[in-house]
Amino acid sequence: MKIALIGATGNIGSAISQEALRRKHTVTGITRRTTGLSPTLAGIDVHTADVLDHAALTAAVQGHDVLASAFGSGADAMLIVDATRAIVAAARAAGIKRVIVVGGAGSLEIGGGKQLVDSPDFPAAYKSYALAHRDALAVLRDAPDIDWTFFAPAAEIGPSDKVGKFRVGARKLITDAAGRSAISYADYADAFVSEIEAGSHPKEIVTVAY
Ligand SMILES: NC(=O)c1ccc[n+]([C@@H]2O[C@H](COP(=O)([O-])OP(=O)(O)OC[C@H]3O[C@@H](n4cnc5c(N)ncnc54)[C@H](OP(=O)(O)O)[C@@H]3O)[C@@H](O)[C@H]2O)c1
Repeated sequence: MKIALIGATGNIGSAISQEALRRKHTVTGITRRTTGLSPTLAGIDVHTADVLDHAALTAAVQGHDVLASAFGSGADAMLIVDATRAIVAAARAAGIKRVIVVGGAGSLEIGGGKQLVDSPDFPAAYKSYALAHRDALAVLRDAPDIDWTFFAPAAEIGPSDKVGKFRVGARKLITDAAGRSAISYADYADAFVSEIEAGSHPKEIVTVAY
């Protein structure tokens, strides 16, 4: 498949691009950078564009089967919402129906009609990001013409080894017997690229955890 990937230089995006290349997909990585590009971008077509520049983003994603995003906002969490609007607009302009974004675990259900971000012990440092991802989810839900998937990581995600075995599910936080929700970048990327290939969760929230 021809995959356009915003955030290909990031922690999660670089794992996704490596996994997609391993599976012989064609990847266009979209970055604001023109210099200092990481060796993890070797093998992908790099295209310079700011996600908020509609004309540049539309030109970068034109001709791809899927628009994927591992956008990260830095300090201003609300940029996650702006970026999601921009992604939907560029997908429409480029005639791409399929959009898949790295979401936030805070939007996953934890029972009792609550989402993880609403739990009293949700880490304060991540709250603005989790709330922004929830607003971004509302932007996607407001785009009935797009086959979007909001792919939330487990509550914890990091650079641990690839295990190769995990559970994928819709809407609900996945925890292990000890109540922990975790995944490595590599295993998340594995599940994310499988979702790109299968397209089995259009207009849904999905997550993956051990
Ligand atoms: N448990 C959870 O729910 C959880 C945990 C971790 C992360 N996340 C979410 O996952 C996403 C990715 O996280 P990460 O740690 O991989 O992020 P990251 O390492 O900070 O990478 C951010 C990426 O976004 C790109 N970017 C930022 N602003 C841009 C712009 N204006 N135009 C184009 N590209 C732009 C950067 O590209 P350039 O700098 O190259 O332009 C970079 O590739 C975030 O949205 C984060 O909130 C969720």
